[in-house]
Amino acid sequence: MSRESTGSPDDQNPLSNAAWEAAASAYAPSGFHVGAAVRTGSGAIYAGCNVENASYPVTLCAERNAIAAAIVAEGPAVAIEEIVVATPDSQNCAPCGMCRQALIEFGPAVRVQFLQNGRLVGTTIAELLPYAFTRADQP
Ligand code: THU
Repeated sequence: MSRESTGSPDDQNPLSNAAWEAAASAYAPSGFHVGAAVRTGSGAIYAGCNVENASYPVTLCAERNAIAAAIVAEGPAVAIEEIVVATPDSQNCAPCGMCRQALIEFGPAVRVQFLQNGRLVGTTIAELLPYAFTRADQP
C-alpha cells in the first residue's frame, strides 16, 4: 500500500471529496458515519453513505450504496474503476469483506483508497480480496 493523500475533506481529489460529503449524509445512530464514492469507466462519480437500521443486520454499507447508485445511473454493465471510502469518526475505514465481494463483481481491477491511520492509502481489489470467487468461476 502507498500513501495517496491526506484524506481530509478539503483534499483536491473530487472522488475523495465526494466520499467525504457522502459521509455527512449517513444515517448512523451508531455514530459511525461512512461515505464512499466510485468512479466508473465513463468518468462519472457516484456516492453512497451507510444506512443503519434498528434491526442491525439490515444496515447497508456506504460502498454498496455507492455501487447501487452507479448501477441505477449507468445500467447493469457499469464498470467501476475506482473507489474512495472515508469516515470522520475513526482513523481507519477499510471496506468490509462483503463490500470487497460486491466491488469485484463490477470491477476486477478496481483501485481502492480508504482511510488508514487518518490518511487515505491506495491498493487494489485484488490485494484486498485474494483468491476471489467470481462469476468467471461458475460454469
Ligand atoms: N460500514 C460501512 O459503511 N462500510 C464498511 O466497509 C464498513 C462498515 C458501516 C456499516 C455500519 O453502519 C457502520 O459502518 C459500523 O459497522
